[in-house]
Amino acid sequence: MIGGPSTSSDAACAAQPAAQPVARSAVAPCAQHGGNGTGQLVGNATGPAASPAGAAGSQTLGAAGAQAAGPWPAAAGPFSVDGEALLAWRRRMLALGGTAAELDWLLDLAGGLRWRRLQELHLRPERPVPLEQPLAALELLWRRHRASAEPLQYLVGRCPWRDLELAVAPGVLIPRQETEQLVDLALELRPPRSPGALHWADLGTGSGCLAVALGLALPAERGFAVEASGEALAQAALNLERCGLVGRITLLHSNWWAALEPWWGKLDLVVSNPPYIPSGLLSGLEPVVRDHEPALALDGGPDGLEAVRAIVALAPQALAPGGVVVLEHHHDQSAAVLDLLAAAGLEQPQAHRDLEGVLRFASARRQVQP
Ligand SMILES: C[S@@+](CC[C@H](N)C(=O)[O-])C[C@H]1O[C@@H](n2cnc3c(N)ncnc32)[C@H](O)[C@@H]1O
Repeated sequence: MIGGPSTSSDAACAAQPAAQPVARSAVAPCAQHGGNGTGQLVGNATGPAASPAGAAGSQTLGAAGAQAAGPWPAAAGPFSVDGEALLAWRRRMLALGGTAAELDWLLDLAGGLRWRRLQELHLRPERPVPLEQPLAALELLWRRHRASAEPLQYLVGRCPWRDLELAVAPGVLIPRQETEQLVDLALELRPPRSPGALHWADLGTGSGCLAVALGLALPAERGFAVEASGEALAQAALNLERCGLVGRITLLHSNWWAALEPWWGKLDLVVSNPPYIPSGLLSGLEPVVRDHEPALALDGGPDGLEAVRAIVALAPQALAPGGVVVLEHHHDQSAAVLDLLAAAGLEQPQAHRDLEGVLRFASARRQVQP
């Protein structure tokens, strides 16, 4: 499903509401993985709060993931607000609509108010609360989100995803929670190769989420990230740079396999979360998705399978012998995708469930001995 960080229905990469709060305790800035040390590797879909238009690189995040158990620290943020006043503000904002989870996500990502501190606030409202942004700035973002259904991740410029925070901006799909599993599946299914000998590719990289995760997990291997949208490609480049992956992953502006032609027959692992929403369903998507996320990332054509067909058709040529392709698809496309994989001559077509038990992924291999 394409959607926000913590939604969990069965929509595909596009059918899901864009964003729900994600607990931040497990989120690590990419700097921990060799990024540029700005502490702001970004993840799920929003630009810096102070400049919602997307100056994701201009704002330093608080240490993501640094929220540990322990005593309430002294107020130390650049902005301090009275606890009672903050709780009253929160009630006023919720009266405008939206969910507490979304508002608390905004307080966390844009305000630096981690979930545990927010819980403690309810117990000790007399304590001052440090914030990374004044409440007035957070209120502007919340009102904009309520008025236009603009995804909070775009407004904040980042999105937690797996153990990362990725930069996101309009024009790039907000990485969805289900897609996190695609990384684990790919790592589990990849063929055995000696260190440094594996070649992998991510088709339709968007924010670069899958490519970043694979690049960090397979530091010795050569990776390619392919994308047709220039806007998405720019965002992917930003995320690769912040994660210290420049030079280790090659970004390619291309229609699926085209720019990979020199590597056809040598790709050991190919992942893709292609656009797979049937065109007829697009108008029924939540406004936060339909009105703001790129159609190129969502629209899978009349039956939702156009991109899957294009990818599967050339997989037998592009994969190395024994190489594997792992795809995400819409909740009701499992049988059709397995049929396409088998019809293309790939072996061991296999369906895989997401954490909700939905058949969300499919994989298949090129035979080892043709
Ligand atoms: C569902 S999004 C997935 C983005 C990202 N991999 C993720 O999981 O969040 C599909 C991506 O495929 C890209 N795309 C669509 N058509 C393409 C094509 N013909 N060639 C390459 N990429 C394409 C879209 O721009 C979009 O970034």
